[in-house]
Amino acid sequence: MYNARTARLVDLIQRCPKPYAEIPLVKGLPLVGNLPKFLRDPLGNAQALALHGNVVRSRTFFETVTLLGPDANQFVLHDSAGNFSSRGGWQYWIDAVFPGAIMALDDPQHKHHRRIMQGAFKRSAMERYVHDMGPVIDEVLGSWPTGTGRPMRLFPQIKALTLNIAARVFMGMALGPEADRMNQAFVDTVQASLALVRRVVPPLAMWRGVRARRFLVQLMQSRLADKRAHVAPDLFSQLCHARSEDGERFSDDEVVNHMIFLMMAAHDTTTSALTTMFYSLARQPEWQDRLRADALARPSAHLRYEDIAQCERTEWVMKEALRMYPPLTSIPRKAARDCEFGGFQIPKGTPVGISPIHTHHLAEWWTQPEAFDPERFSPARAEHRRHAFAYLPFGGGAHLCIGQHFADMEVKAVMHQVLRRFRFSVPEGYRMPYQLVPIAKPRDGLPILMQPL
Ligand code: HEM
Repeated sequence: MYNARTARLVDLIQRCPKPYAEIPLVKGLPLVGNLPKFLRDPLGNAQALALHGNVVRSRTFFETVTLLGPDANQFVLHDSAGNFSSRGGWQYWIDAVFPGAIMALDDPQHKHHRRIMQGAFKRSAMERYVHDMGPVIDEVLGSWPTGTGRPMRLFPQIKALTLNIAARVFMGMALGPEADRMNQAFVDTVQASLALVRRVVPPLAMWRGVRARRFLVQLMQSRLADKRAHVAPDLFSQLCHARSEDGERFSDDEVVNHMIFLMMAAHDTTTSALTTMFYSLARQPEWQDRLRADALARPSAHLRYEDIAQCERTEWVMKEALRMYPPLTSIPRKAARDCEFGGFQIPKGTPVGISPIHTHHLAEWWTQPEAFDPERFSPARAEHRRHAFAYLPFGGGAHLCIGQHFADMEVKAVMHQVLRRFRFSVPEGYRMPYQLVPIAKPRDGLPILMQPL
């Protein structure tokens, strides 16, 4: 009798969430904590944290609780209880250059904006976007310095390509000096949002970013009246005319803010995805050949909307590149109320992070996670379906990437044309030196030999 009661009491105490202070703390180095390790090797850093459990405190920019594994991802992203604020997680990074960004809105504003923004990603709009990408990709690929027998630095070329696609498809601009100026302003705002030093002082990145944002705002404002007056196929115009099911629309300021943020959200992420795909395919010529055979079997030189669903093997390769090198290695939030996870209390106001890159490399969920194996995404194996939150390069829940299908189309449209024109390779044994934070990119620009077919 006594023993049973004691056991019940012990069980009750054990099930009580432990206080925040008992969450394992990984101190890292004096003063800088875990920041250098996080910047150098976010996967290794998360794996080192995981040695202490699935709920771990560490200091990167500030003390953060990292929640690890698919259940943690689900708890944070599929947040029906309203435990987490996306605004709290992102505002430090994006408020100065991207005020009003949808990613930094919480409900009910987030829901309101998302319902309207969805209108710019409806099927009829997507068909036009992919149609309009074709000639830009064609023109830019035609200007690549290939066939010289010397490697070309791929990363800057991909960056210029995605910027030119954005100028055309987002803004409705032709390639030329105006698009170049906008693209440069845009690069400056992106660099500011990712800058580690956040002070708006010349000549720092934040200062350049704030100045570039002013230019972009003026540029968008000067075109608003025209975009409002006519429905055109570009994203800017679509956003001006987008309506929610209840007929709500964006104000002029909201259109401008969303446009600038959308360009930022689309740009480095898609550039990163394309770069890692090129790298993976350059190292795995047998996969490159398979994808080329698929591309050559499609009838048209430019990918059409109806071809997208047929690019099955390109999609596996894209998914695998995003699994191994997710452009966003971690996703920040702030606890909006007291909650508990994994047996620990997480008080309101706590900065919380999840780590897609860590989940993507868990041997528990992925067969040989370090191996490049696109077939793991085939219907026969479907490893990404083993847990709803084991694969999350596009996040999940309410803030799930609204541009996921756009990115998918853009990557497939680029790859379709590239594979039909070039064979590409890296020297035997080459390993791309990689920077994963703030966004994945090669440190050496990825020298790659592109040979016309
Ligand atoms: C491979 C390319 C891309 C990747 C890996 C990616 C990744 C992500 C991730 C992880 C999030 C969620 C962030 C969070 O929960 O805090 C997100 C949100 C978002 N993405 Fe993407 N993205 C990509 C391309 C794009 C493109 C092409 C667009 C626009 C055309 C876009 C627009 C957005 C927007 C607007 C949000 C915020 C959505 C919201 O808060 O409701 N992204 N993206």
